[in-house]
Amino acid sequence: MKQPTSFLGQCLLPIVVGLIMFGIMVFIGSCGEDKDEPVPAPAPKASPVRDAAFTAIYPIIRANCTPCHDGIKHPVKFETPEQFKGSKARARITNGSMPPSPKKMTADSKGKLLEYLQ
Ligand code: HEC
Repeated sequence: MKQPTSFLGQCLLPIVVGLIMFGIMVFIGSCGEDKDEPVPAPAPKASPVRDAAFTAIYPIIRANCTPCHDGIKHPVKFETPEQFKGSKARARITNGSMPPSPKKMTADSKGKLLEYLQ
């Protein structure tokens, strides 16, 4: 019974050796990849960060300002506390020029926005 041995030697052995070589190549390849291209940290999310106080008044902004201040119709938008506080909103709400008539805010909403902008 010489056949199993020669079958192993002629067919199976080269396949096994090939698989081992392939495995070593993949291993070396993955090592090099780790060194050369470290996995980049996930990019910070683009979603706006809102504190609780801004979240509370945001519906007022959404109802009275965002229809115009969406970043398209008007470049000044109020999606984050920084955008809102960093704008001239306080002066414009106080002098009554924002929101422009005919749509006027209720006195209650105006008070809440000005309170936040203090
Ligand atoms: C009907 C559309 C409309 C609405 C609603 C509106 N705005 Fe405006 N806003 C404008 C336009 C147009 C301008 C640019 C003309 C001007 O400065 O008056 C402007 C300008 C401004 C500016 C000055 C921007 C700059 O830096 O020059 C501020 C601040 C502002 N708006 C705040 C607000 C706030 C806060 C609200 C909501 C309470 C609001 N706006 C609602 C249309 C609107």
